[in-house]
Amino acid sequence: MWIFYPTSVFLRIFVLCSLLSCITGLTVKYSREPVTKTEGHSLTLKCTVIYEKESCDDIQATWCFAHSAKDCEPFMDPHRYLIKVNETELNQNRVRNILMTFNSLRLQDSGYYQCNAKCTISGTQGKGHLVYLNVTADPYKGLNVSKWSGQCEADTALLMLSGILILWCYCMDHHIV
Ligand SMILES: *[C@@H]1O[C@H](CO)[C@@H](O)[C@H](O)[C@H]1NC(C)=O
Ligand SMILES: *[C@@H]1O[C@H](CO)[C@@H](O)[C@H](O)[C@H]1NC(C)=O
Ligand SMILES: *[C@@H]1O[C@H](CO)[C@@H](O)[C@H](O)[C@H]1NC(C)=O
Repeated sequence: MWIFYPTSVFLRIFVLCSLLSCITGLTVKYSREPVTKTEGHSLTLKCTVIYEKESCDDIQATWCFAHSAKDCEPFMDPHRYLIKVNETELNQNRVRNILMTFNSLRLQDSGYYQCNAKCTISGTQGKGHLVYLNVTADPYKGLNVSKWSGQCEADTALLMLSGILILWCYCMDHHIV
């Protein structure tokens, strides 16, 4: 694991630096790597927006689910997603983190996600790249059911075996075989 550590740090920095949306005054940053998670787990997607306070004043920034290249649907259901925002100042700029947390992933959550930002004054837009979320089925889901049916099969087999034995003993006693 330790051997891979410097490589992954390098990759992460490389990913952050090779940005699609590098528009003056507004930059949207986040990891490009696809995310694979098992259903039922929680997941947080983090997006960082850096903007010039002077030219932008304020921004609107959010994560959305990309149905297509043009249509990205913002998250509405507060029971399923938790969105946290914090902001700090950095030189002449402001740095805003938008963290979207899924309480419990569903298989339907698989798909492409995007973080977009827009300056309120100039209207300058920053679109992040699409990041793929792969939600995989939980292999332990319904394990109790399979355990129970396994138990039943074993019991049936045992019952049949003892039935045959009883029959065999009966036959031996009565000199049928
Ligand atoms: C903002 O949130 C990120 C992620 O949780 C955290 O690393 C960072 O320290 C936070 N910044 C402030 C100023 O709270
Ligand atoms: C999602 O992840 C699983 C397990 O790693 C993999 O088998 C599957 O091909 C992935 N699906 C997609 C669409 O990438
Ligand atoms: C499986 O059994 C455990 C305890 O034996 C229980 O806590 C859990 O809720 C059960 N899961 C399902 C899906 O029935």
